[in-house]
Amino acid sequence: MEHVVRNAWYVLGWTAEIGTGPFARRVLDEPVVAFRRRDGRLAALLDRCAHRLVPLSLGSVVDDTLQCGYHGLRYDDTGACVHVPGQANIPPAARVRSFPVTERYGAAWIWMGDPEQADPGLIPAIERYGAPGWTVIWGAPQHHRSHYLNIVENLQDPAHTTYVHPGTIGNPASSDIAPVIEESEGHIVTYRWTLDAEPPPIDRKNANFSGLADRCQYYHFFPPCTSRVDVVTMQAGQEHTEANMDRGLRAFSYKFLTPETDTATHFFWLHVRNFGVGDQELDERLMRDMGRTFEEDNVIVSAMQREQDATGVRQLAWLRIDAGPSRARRMIEKMAAADAAAAPATSTAS
Ligand code: FES
Ligand SMILES: [Fe+2]
Repeated sequence: MEHVVRNAWYVLGWTAEIGTGPFARRVLDEPVVAFRRRDGRLAALLDRCAHRLVPLSLGSVVDDTLQCGYHGLRYDDTGACVHVPGQANIPPAARVRSFPVTERYGAAWIWMGDPEQADPGLIPAIERYGAPGWTVIWGAPQHHRSHYLNIVENLQDPAHTTYVHPGTIGNPASSDIAPVIEESEGHIVTYRWTLDAEPPPIDRKNANFSGLADRCQYYHFFPPCTSRVDVVTMQAGQEHTEANMDRGLRAFSYKFLTPETDTATHFFWLHVRNFGVGDQELDERLMRDMGRTFEEDNVIVSAMQREQDATGVRQLAWLRIDAGPSRARRMIEKMAAADAAAAPATSTAS
């Protein structure tokens, strides 16, 4: 795959998606199968039997091993074959690659690069997760038919919301306010505050403040694949400290991109908020509206990908609004180049 960072944690799936049987998903253009052992721990292997390359996900989980559905070879969590029906000796070549995998925040995270570097401390931290007064929803996983970098750019691009999402998050009034962009090591943020504004009726309904509001959207990006949009509506006139923002209406909208191939990406989103906690109807409405919003992005980036494929060109003209997206892209390209230079042989077939 092009411009991909192997030494990073990617969401393989939500914990709730992975049951007792084999779970298959293509990640960084490699077939992966995960399975759960009896103690609940996950294992992840290359989804390709060492005998005749049949996907192991067509088999079944037997006594903490994954059994191939063709001739019954069994593999343990390290990818070693531990059983060959009809013969006592196990050929040395009967082994498949295994990948570090760990569960956190209701997600299974996989590391496709050098296992030695798979430090769980590098899993992106999720703000306010599990904190009292905050609640989480996990969106249904989506499949976007576009290279993940097109999606990274979309997530770092507030200018598109007016046109792509007029029925949900688009706001014609804010489209002319220039955003601020700040970059530091491994992080980029684009944001704009709207001060002393009448809050929208929906915020008023949930709000615990009166009068005018200060509102902001921060578009954070943590390369290679995590986006976090902080949305704040707070009492106007207060200092914009973390504590004051927490006293207003606040949500952290996360997206995790898992590249599938050069033209497709698994799109996971979750949303942490401090209002309407326990309100199931709101949970359902947000699930529906946010899911629909991201499918609107999918329509755009998929159509764009088709034209990019047809022409071999990804952009013709450059605009001021490209500053944030381009920076995010350059950050990833730099990481991907360093990653490729450090481990040129990690993407082998075995
Ligand atoms: S192909 Fe898997 S055991 Fe033969
Ligand atoms: Fe969007």
